[in-house]
Amino acid sequence: MSSRIHHAGLAQKVMSGADAAAMIHHGDNVGFSGFTGAGYPKDVPRALAGRIKAAHDRGEEFRIGVWTGASTAPELDGALAEVDGISTRVPYQSDPVTRAKINSGDIDYVDIHLSHLNQYVEHGFMGRLDFAVVEVTAITPGGRLVPSASVGCNRTYLDKADKIILEVNAWQPAEIEGVHDIWRNETIPNRHPVPILHPGDRIGTPYFEIDTSKVVAVVETDAPDRNSPFKPIDDTSRAIASHFIDFLKHEVKKGRLPKKLLPLQSGVGNIANAVLDGLHTSPWAGKGLGAYTEVLQDGMLDLIDDGTFSVASCTALSLSPEGVERFNRDVVDYLDKVVMRPQSISNHPEVVRRLGVISCNGLIEADLYGNVNSTHVIGSRIQNGIGGSADFTHHGYLTTFVTPSTAKGGALSCIVPMVSHVDHTEHDVMVMITEQGLADLRGLAPRKRAQQIIDHCAHPDFRPLLQDYFDRACAGAWGQQTPHLLGEAFSFHQRFMETGSMSSR
Ligand code: COA
Repeated sequence: MSSRIHHAGLAQKVMSGADAAAMIHHGDNVGFSGFTGAGYPKDVPRALAGRIKAAHDRGEEFRIGVWTGASTAPELDGALAEVDGISTRVPYQSDPVTRAKINSGDIDYVDIHLSHLNQYVEHGFMGRLDFAVVEVTAITPGGRLVPSASVGCNRTYLDKADKIILEVNAWQPAEIEGVHDIWRNETIPNRHPVPILHPGDRIGTPYFEIDTSKVVAVVETDAPDRNSPFKPIDDTSRAIASHFIDFLKHEVKKGRLPKKLLPLQSGVGNIANAVLDGLHTSPWAGKGLGAYTEVLQDGMLDLIDDGTFSVASCTALSLSPEGVERFNRDVVDYLDKVVMRPQSISNHPEVVRRLGVISCNGLIEADLYGNVNSTHVIGSRIQNGIGGSADFTHHGYLTTFVTPSTAKGGALSCIVPMVSHVDHTEHDVMVMITEQGLADLRGLAPRKRAQQIIDHCAHPDFRPLLQDYFDRACAGAWGQQTPHLLGEAFSFHQRFMETGSMSSR
């Protein structure tokens, strides 16, 4: 019996990834573990991709529904998309091959709030779940599972799937046992309040409890997570971080935030990661703040290490190779500082509202009135997905968005007259921050918001164009609440498609 598989019955089920993958068939829905490149199965998806390719070579149809926690890795998303093995993808991805197949119309992508996923699966909104394929760190003698580097939607997948395939990954540190907090609520109409009053509260157990009779295969692996590096922190992200920190100081001064702030949430991506860096040189350095967030990125890990955060609640690690090496080496020291929960709880609206989370998320583009597009490039092409950004933005106490004012080497303005796709509406977005400055939109009517965004967030190269649009809209619009020139609202996007630049030059 392997040193990680302590249950005699499940040890009998050990087999190769290829043998396990042979049980999955065309048309099955499969709930894979995996969240931001952490804790996804390494062997079965690759073997399955090989099986799918062989079937296609024989002229047979073979595509499956791929459900995960969030993004995975080339070994899962990439491998299955490459062989055209994915019919439907739920609920979030960031893989280049999958993205291309979604944008070419070959994969149906259902981009949903990460806090909603549990309910979608539990109550059958997306049909039956045939398999759960879940990476774990170990199996206890009683058949309980020690989760891996992410929790995501695994508990629900393990509960709801007809059959379970487990991958036991010896690369994940055995000492991670104890970091997770798995809690099961009653189902509707008997749901209970989620009893979390502080980010570090533990309300469940560190294990997945499963029906071991559903386990059809156990596969042993020893392979690392994806762990992509972050872009180096540059002057742009440093300027954004500095505006963010100044804003927090201002809010404390005004008495709208307590001295030790409120729990912070930081979104996925380079900019949100870089913004956290500003806390190192802020008045809160070493002050033991709390984080109630979705993913633990390098920036947050650094802040735990220097005592700026005393605890961080999340659902997954999302670390660089250096970050994960540090986490795995010192995991015992993180056991009382990191709590990893199911995504339905890490992103739970009730808890986010109760704790008064300060949210900070990245965006693709924002418009003059504060509507935000987090997902689509020029309206039609998906980048990643909405992820948990709305879970925190709709329910947070202070909701901020951070972005460079331009993208693609300055060819695109991230501030546009009207967003080409809406993920977060003007009603939820309180503060917009670019390297140019900060627009505090709270309590402002739309026209005042627009002027704040033009003056403080737009890049100087695009400011005159935006001002011109806004002035003409105010002069000629059909109504003055939210003035637009509808025929011109997407002129910036149109110009980019025609000339490769949003600038009129
Ligand atoms: N138009 C076109 N492309 C744009 C763009 C715009 N206005 N703004 C950004 N992009 C592109 C960048 O060029 C870059 O593309 P590349 O990788 O090909 O160079 C990519 O989007 C990422 O941009 P970057 O500036 O590096 O930002 P980021 O890493 O901070 O990510 C998001 C920004 C919006 C993509 C990312 O935050 C995201 O996926 N958000 C949605 C999910 C979310 O918020 N989850 C948090 C929940 S807790």
